[in-house]
Amino acid sequence: MITVKDLQPHPLDQVHRLIEPGPVILVTTRHRGIPNVMTNGFNMMVRHDPPLIACTIGPWDHSYQALVETGECVISVPTADMAATVVDIGNCSGADVDKFEEFDLTAVSGAEVQAPLVAECFANIECRVADSSLVAPYSLFLLEAVRAWTDPSQPQPQLFHHHGDGTFTLDGPTVDLKDRMTKWQYLL
Ligand SMILES: Cc1cc2nc3c(=O)[nH]c(=O)nc-3n(C[C@H](O)[C@H](O)[C@H](O)COP(=O)(O)O)c2cc1C
Repeated sequence: MITVKDLQPHPLDQVHRLIEPGPVILVTTRHRGIPNVMTNGFNMMVRHDPPLIACTIGPWDHSYQALVETGECVISVPTADMAATVVDIGNCSGADVDKFEEFDLTAVSGAEVQAPLVAECFANIECRVADSSLVAPYSLFLLEAVRAWTDPSQPQPQLFHHHGDGTFTLDGPTVDLKDRMTKWQYLL
């Protein structure tokens, strides 16, 4: 019988490496007319309807103040071929550099928010801050998706997921288990 003695203790400060969600996303903002983009790995869906997404964006990020002041952002979902660029985007600040220019990203105007879409990404979700009560204690923004777009030229996007230590897993094969989702037919 297996006991905890057979298992290896995992440091608590590295728990995120076990369940770090994905995919890695970009979050764009527009503050005082200037567009910016940051990389985000700490994110999750919270609710279907209205669609709510939680993102941790720290006060050390230039994007934090932009999001606090404007209450708007776009979640842009990059594909695996963009992984190296996405990491570079997360290793510099809009306080120092125009990241759209530096990384050759194409800013596209959305329909609902001032923050730009990123044309190179396969999906773009326009969001407004729905609840900021967890921002002060946890830097956690609850975002409501108000409009979403996908690029029809990228029908089978391969997303990527951060392990929290600079290593990433790329999406693998898709498994169709819809016939077992008996309780959740309305989601299919
Ligand atoms: C793979 C990766 C994931 C990241 N995830 C987050 C995150 O979830 N939350 C966060 O605040 N910063 C995260 N960062 C760091 C920000 O992207 C980084 O601080 C960025 O430079 C902020 O840009 P800004 O100052 O222009 O807002 C991540 C960086 C990388 C490379």
